Amino acid sequence: SGPATVSPTGQETGTPQDKMAQGGKFLTTAHGARLKDSDHSLKAGNRGPILLQDHHFREKISHFDHERIPERVVHARGSGAHGVFRGYGTASKISRAGVFAQDKETEVFVRFSTVVGSRGSSDLARDTRGFATKFYTDEGTWDLVGNNIPVFFIQDALKFPDVVHAVKPHPDREIPQAQSAHDTFWDFVSLHTEAQHHTMWNMADRGIPRSYRMMEGFGIHTFRLIAQDGSTVLVKFHWKPKLGVHSVTWEEAQIISGADPDFHRRDLADAIEAGAFPEWELGVQVFEDTEDQMFAGIDLLDPTKIVPEELVPVEPIGKMTLNRNTTNFFAETEQVAFNPNNLVPGIDVTNDPLLQGRLFSYLDTQITRLGGPNWNQLPINRPHAAVNDMLRDGMHQTAVHAGVAPYRPNSLDGGNPFETPDGDRPFIDHPAPVPASVKERALPASFEDHFSQARLFFQSLSEVEKEHVAQAYTFELGKCYEQAIRERQLKALAAIDPTLAQVVADGLGLPVPKPAESPADVVPSPALSQVGREWPLD
Ligand code: HEM
Repeated sequence: SGPATVSPTGQETGTPQDKMAQGGKFLTTAHGARLKDSDHSLKAGNRGPILLQDHHFREKISHFDHERIPERVVHARGSGAHGVFRGYGTASKISRAGVFAQDKETEVFVRFSTVVGSRGSSDLARDTRGFATKFYTDEGTWDLVGNNIPVFFIQDALKFPDVVHAVKPHPDREIPQAQSAHDTFWDFVSLHTEAQHHTMWNMADRGIPRSYRMMEGFGIHTFRLIAQDGSTVLVKFHWKPKLGVHSVTWEEAQIISGADPDFHRRDLADAIEAGAFPEWELGVQVFEDTEDQMFAGIDLLDPTKIVPEELVPVEPIGKMTLNRNTTNFFAETEQVAFNPNNLVPGIDVTNDPLLQGRLFSYLDTQITRLGGPNWNQLPINRPHAAVNDMLRDGMHQTAVHAGVAPYRPNSLDGGNPFETPDGDRPFIDHPAPVPASVKERALPASFEDHFSQARLFFQSLSEVEKEHVAQAYTFELGKCYEQAIRERQLKALAAIDPTLAQVVADGLGLPVPKPAESPADVVPSPALSQVGREWPLD
């Protein structure tokens, strides 16, 4: 037995007692001394001034002064709920992760969010929705940090700060809170045409869901699953809501936003409270783990592409039920820290250049947002598996670590205290070959088709849905001040679907552009993806 990790209250971490920060029947100060009165400050005489020696006054006001923490840099507005995931066993042949085993129940916490608006913005904004799930598995925590749209704006994580600067409110006036009704948004997506596919989904009804309970969720990237025998497959994760996928119309969204900007938050909490527990089936599209990681001409590492379900159906592997509301929004929904690095044996990442960047970003941002490196100890983030991580000290350390030798092997705390299982570490588990030279910026040619899947999506819609798309582009582009940006976006639309471009151009009172054939026709300079530098390693 080695140094143990115990919580400050001496409880085993993760127990309800340990999560209970307050108790007892008396009102007290933070150091536990009983208080008679918390309404009147200590004054000299009846009319003041207030005395410096009033510790209770200073403590109460000072704590309040520091109540706020930074909101998330993206996905600031969200709602969370607890639940349970139950494996069907159907994925056990392709992944050794215990969470997929038949009838295995794993506790989960889910946070749904909008991407762009601040913490107090409306739930009904036209935007992408986050769909992040924390599985507290016996083998460590697995986070599936996805969205309600199956593709993403960019292909390389290096552009994430840029796309977020473009979708966030303008730096001069701090408007709008919504994603798309402004110049920088359209400037970005018309200049970085890989964003056109995601944008098309945003302009469609998917951009304004009826309820969090009625949204699909997507892992977006291709992941690698590893079976007990070491064999691997590539997969894309899908959440399918039992209630089906529903949206509201733009006009409905405006009315709801005015009358109840908390509509989605309220809907989720009310449904759970009423016992109408929302459910999703988790499914996977499974692909052979080939050397080129392509399927039917689609690059599986390109996060701006889907693989149509007609070609590869989604196979159900488990069911999630959300059955418990949060007790405290701040402690749970605000302090939860999702991280695509949180993987368990049997689930691994691929070289998708967007996913690779995410593996750095979340952990890094949470050090700022949650005030230091110890956020894994917050009750909502604590693994339900035993932890012996040899990480020590740091801001907000709450564990009382026993022992003197947080390194191994050692000759003081029992020598070589922890067992290390063979081949159980993500990334190393399945050694993947890497190319022999280092390249800057170059993306493979297979990433260069920016329009065909946006067209596929648009053409798959019903006539009513197509009308909504045209109206959305017309409205949102109508908010753009710069004529040149509107014209450039129209060119991109012409490359996707000339009829759609025509309707939107008519709506904006602009000429219809000639159909473009490639990103280069929309953006005159060579696309960034074509500019590469290569450094031979020698
Ligand atoms: C937060 C999804 C790409 C950086 C989030 C959240 C979701 C999400 C759902 C909110 C988590 C929560 O509810 O707390 C996605 C998806 C992506 C993507 C599906 C692409 C497929 C990226 C990239 C980066 C990034 C490329 C950076 C390189 C962040 C950051 C946060 C965040 C910094 C805030 C995290 C926090 O403060 O806890 N993302 N994201 N994301 N994402 Fe992403």
